[in-house]
Amino acid sequence: MTKQPISVTTHGGEMIAALQRCSFLTAKADGRENTMAIGWGTVGILWGRQVFICYVRKSRYTRELLDKNPEFTVNMPVGDYDRKIFEVCGMKSGRDVDKTAEAGLTLVEGSKVSVPAIAELPMTLECRVLYRREQDVGLLPPEMKEKLYPGEDPDSHVEYVGEILDAYIVRQ
Ligand SMILES: Cc1cc2nc3c(=O)[nH]c(=O)nc-3n(C[C@H](O)[C@H](O)[C@H](O)COP(=O)(O)O)c2cc1C
Repeated sequence: MTKQPISVTTHGGEMIAALQRCSFLTAKADGRENTMAIGWGTVGILWGRQVFICYVRKSRYTRELLDKNPEFTVNMPVGDYDRKIFEVCGMKSGRDVDKTAEAGLTLVEGSKVSVPAIAELPMTLECRVLYRREQDVGLLPPEMKEKLYPGEDPDSHVEYVGEILDAYIVRQ
């Protein structure tokens, strides 16, 4: 297994295209890793650093892990991948199942962070959280607030800005 270095400037378009389909975020705390599907996120530059920004709902098990250990990896498919990964990581919670085992994920040790990458989804970012912000959904245009966060006590997202410490494609 090797890691082919890439960068946000050379692969940013591919990363955003992968996000538009579906990508995967892994967090790890208390000796347990957990992967969830993500669609809301982006790469870019903030505070002069290359960053990945993601939005994770408060209720997610992943959010609990991120708040205990503020590091994560983002894994993006290159070409086809096993649909089971999408179903398990996008529809089940790590509170109920061991998604690594159930989805058959092959973990690859992180180079700069304590969280592993996933060989089956080879385009990888390793990130450390620089900034965390709970959303004020009242600042959204009213029609978006109503559609995305209806009611008095919505399960809003937490925004995490992670500095990208390493980026590569895993070659098996
Ligand atoms: C295509 C797709 C994109 C998703 N994007 C997000 C997202 O950006 N943020 C989020 O909080 N949940 C998102 N979800 C939902 C989580 O992946 C899902 O609720 C998952 O089971 C949470 O797992 P956890 O409880 O182990 O953290 C998405 C699901 C799918 C299928």
